[in-house]
Amino acid sequence: MASAKKDWQETPGANTRSIHHGESFASETGTVMPPIFPSATFAHGNSKGFDYTRSGNPNFRILESVLSSVEECNYATVFGSGVSAITAVLSCLKSGDLVLCEENLYGCTVRAFEKVFKKFGIETKWVDFTNLENIQKILDFSPAMIWLESPTNPMLKVIDINEISVVANKRKIPVVVDNTFATPLLQRPLELGATISLSSTTKYINGHSDALGGAVFTDDHEWHERLTFAQKSLGLQPSPFDCWLITRGIKTMPLRISHQVKNALEIAGVINEHKSVAWVRYPFRTDHPDYEIATKQMKAGGAIITLKLKASQQNTYSFCKGLRYFTMAESLGGIESLICHPATMTHASVDHDIRLKLGIDDGLVRLSIGCEDVEDLIDDLQKALDKLK
Ligand SMILES: Cc1ncc(COP(=O)(O)O)c(C=O)c1O
Repeated sequence: MASAKKDWQETPGANTRSIHHGESFASETGTVMPPIFPSATFAHGNSKGFDYTRSGNPNFRILESVLSSVEECNYATVFGSGVSAITAVLSCLKSGDLVLCEENLYGCTVRAFEKVFKKFGIETKWVDFTNLENIQKILDFSPAMIWLESPTNPMLKVIDINEISVVANKRKIPVVVDNTFATPLLQRPLELGATISLSSTTKYINGHSDALGGAVFTDDHEWHERLTFAQKSLGLQPSPFDCWLITRGIKTMPLRISHQVKNALEIAGVINEHKSVAWVRYPFRTDHPDYEIATKQMKAGGAIITLKLKASQQNTYSFCKGLRYFTMAESLGGIESLICHPATMTHASVDHDIRLKLGIDDGLVRLSIGCEDVEDLIDDLQKALDKLK
């Protein structure tokens, strides 16, 4: 746990806050980078209050202090993965609770709801939150929680977080926003009225595809207590080494993201012109259906592009495999560009009819734009598009 509002000046900019962590827990050595504390246990009664790593470790605290500073919120709690962070939040519900969910969520979040938490009596209702009527009807469902992502994975729908929070806050219904695609640098769900902002730190926050992690951000003390309880009681904690890597990764997050965003905007414009591309979706393009909301609540459009190829499943798969600089792989947000074919990868576990209803058909691909030179990425994509039958 760390309180950014107490420990940090509000004046430093995002670069400074990403680079400077608080206490290193080894100040007598003058170390610039904090050490890794792999110890599973700590001597009873030590001055920093550590006892056993499942319920706290210096590397968790260092990472939590940087994360809460970057998000400018009261509390950040770290977990072993984005899915662990999701599990921690859902574990705070009780049997009979209804969660009103945006219908386009990351496949493993859908799976956690439908295949795990349903067994414990947690119900879900799936709605399209880009339809304003569904926002106005929120209170009719009396949900115990509202769950959304924005931009969504993989359709890049942009949901009006403030509009939903205003309605939900009338009855103190917690709004949870999975902010993995945007990061705290481009979008601040808590400032927009949400109760909880959540990120897979595996993605942009770490940025180097070499550690798994998750984090939950809130200004609410009670929620913070519930989350630290979930961290230790369910064994959802990260490893000290992964926290150390993520702390290191964050230092370059603003640099990485600004380069990735610039690359993405340019690439989206170029590939949109290709005859084999049916459409391109990128939140900060004027042809994006939610462009107005995106520019209202985000600082930039992120570095994910979704596009639909005029191609069969087989040919779309071959296109993905044939690229030189885009590795066909799950995940996103690293410095290296990746390509994903949701129908056969991230959303393969989603029921076929539901997948099609969500627009995730066989020609859909998702690009995670990295930090390479934009000319090389464009050249790579254009050559592979030219070959597409
Ligand atoms: C939007 C979103 N949320 C959560 C997760 C889960 O994160 P992790 O893989 O770190 O468990 C992912 C993973 O891709 C994601 O895309």
